Amino acid sequence: MLSDLLDHNFKWATARQREDPGYFRRLSNLQRPDYLWIGCSDSRVPANVITGLEPGEVFVHRNVANLVHRADMNLLSVLEFAVESLEIKHIIVCGHYGCGGVRAAMDGHRHGIIDHWLQPIRDTADEHEDGLAKIIDPETRLNQLCELSIRAQVEGLARTPIIQSAWKRGKTLSIHGWIYGLNDGLLRDLDCGLAAPGADHEQK
Ligand code: CO
Repeated sequence: MLSDLLDHNFKWATARQREDPGYFRRLSNLQRPDYLWIGCSDSRVPANVITGLEPGEVFVHRNVANLVHRADMNLLSVLEFAVESLEIKHIIVCGHYGCGGVRAAMDGHRHGIIDHWLQPIRDTADEHEDGLAKIIDPETRLNQLCELSIRAQVEGLARTPIIQSAWKRGKTLSIHGWIYGLNDGLLRDLDCGLAAPGADHEQK
């Protein structure tokens, strides 16, 4: 029931306020997260919940299949604000195994406008056609494409003028590719992290 959501919120806010009387006042005055999360809209992959981050600790952008389109004003606005104003240190592109967006990109059916949105996934699949064709099991092949797409988004993000300019000016900023398992609730680092040339991308 919708009213349950409001009831839950009231209980949560009241309990928080009781535990830490300055909590909401502090949060309302300052937003200083270290992380930008670019994830899938899938309801089963909520950034704060699976990483244990509290309100104020992660700036979040989500879209279907966690894609970085070069002309996506929504994502670019989020990215620029996160890098220039919030001065976040880490960008995490997080996809997940069994992603419905990746599946829809490859199932050969017409879904509507989403087919245009998902085009970069088909481009990635074409680039890796030979390797993917060797994987017999369809689920394993899909999951491999989920990983490949995340790697491609990390690389695409690194090529944006926003990131290139931040790195040229010596900002400490790294980009990471992670994948989440719906089956086990675990996040895995795909070890495709990027940082400014010459910087140590494993900076924590
Ligand atoms: Co998804």
